Amino acid sequence: MNDQAWGLRELVAKKGIQNSKFITIASGKGGVGKTNFAVNFAYVMANEFQKKILLIDADIGMANIHLFLSTDPNKNMKNFFGGTKLEEVIQEAYGFDVLLGFSGIDELRDLDEISVQSVIYDLERVSQNYDYVVIDTSGGVDEKVMSFLRASSKSYIITTPEPTALTDAYALIRSIYNLYGYQNFKIIVNMCRTEEEGQGVFNKLKMTVKKFLGIDIELLGILPYTNNLPQAVRNKELVAMKYPKDLFTMSVKRICEIEAKIQQPPQDDEHFWQKIFDFMGK
Ligand SMILES: Nc1ncnc2c1ncn2[C@@H]1O[C@H](COP(=O)(O)OP(=O)(O)OP(=O)(O)O)[C@@H](O)[C@H]1O
Ligand SMILES: [Mg+2]
Repeated sequence: MNDQAWGLRELVAKKGIQNSKFITIASGKGGVGKTNFAVNFAYVMANEFQKKILLIDADIGMANIHLFLSTDPNKNMKNFFGGTKLEEVIQEAYGFDVLLGFSGIDELRDLDEISVQSVIYDLERVSQNYDYVVIDTSGGVDEKVMSFLRASSKSYIITTPEPTALTDAYALIRSIYNLYGYQNFKIIVNMCRTEEEGQGVFNKLKMTVKKFLGIDIELLGILPYTNNLPQAVRNKELVAMKYPKDLFTMSVKRICEIEAKIQQPPQDDEHFWQKIFDFMGK
């Protein structure tokens, strides 16, 4: 390893960040805006920050990214598990790549060890082509969401000011911290009426997490409620594309700016997918 790479590695170790390529987007409560954030984040990162993005729909219950993008829901991971090349099931949308239907992972139970290893190898290989792999999950705490969180170097936890969303966000953080010691949480407060409201919600969560778990969480961004978002969704458009000056779009851009500024450490092989499959007991 050369001096520069070594220096970077030291820096990263000090800051406690690992390879920041894999970002899992999760929430305690469903319906808080994960998928909308994910598609707009992917769009801005790709088109304004020239990052290569792979967005994965890991929503196990109701995979729905394809409802926001004009992608073909029948082209998905199931085809890949069935033998189609991974590159052929990845689709392009608005400047970034999309992999649908990770819910098909359950079918792997029927595959032998060699086939599972070749699936993992392909996922690791293809992930290397991207600056970021963004994983949109379903709300709640199930085994698969936990696995993605544990394997990711970074997780964006989304909540809204609604008390139940906040309680559930805390419950999610508590579970994964207590079970696995995982603590790379970055918080996004969505559907806020004012900046102050978002800040107040974050402060409450931060204090609770500090008091009961003894760890620090970080505020990544506050996103406003906007009528332009449901409007854009109805027309199968992205709010960031259709309304570039909307406050929601501007706030997503700020998050992208923060993310894009983080110096990427040397791309050590993280074995992300191997971890995912191990955690899921495949
Ligand atoms: N900032 C916002 N302003 C207005 N409406 C919003 C905002 N964010 C999300 N919504 C609306 O909230 C609803 C849920 O959004 P979304 O599907 O992105 O949530 P989710 O967390 O992915 O849900 P699930 O847990 O079911 O996957 C949608 O109808 C969406 O239009
Ligand atoms: Mg969703």
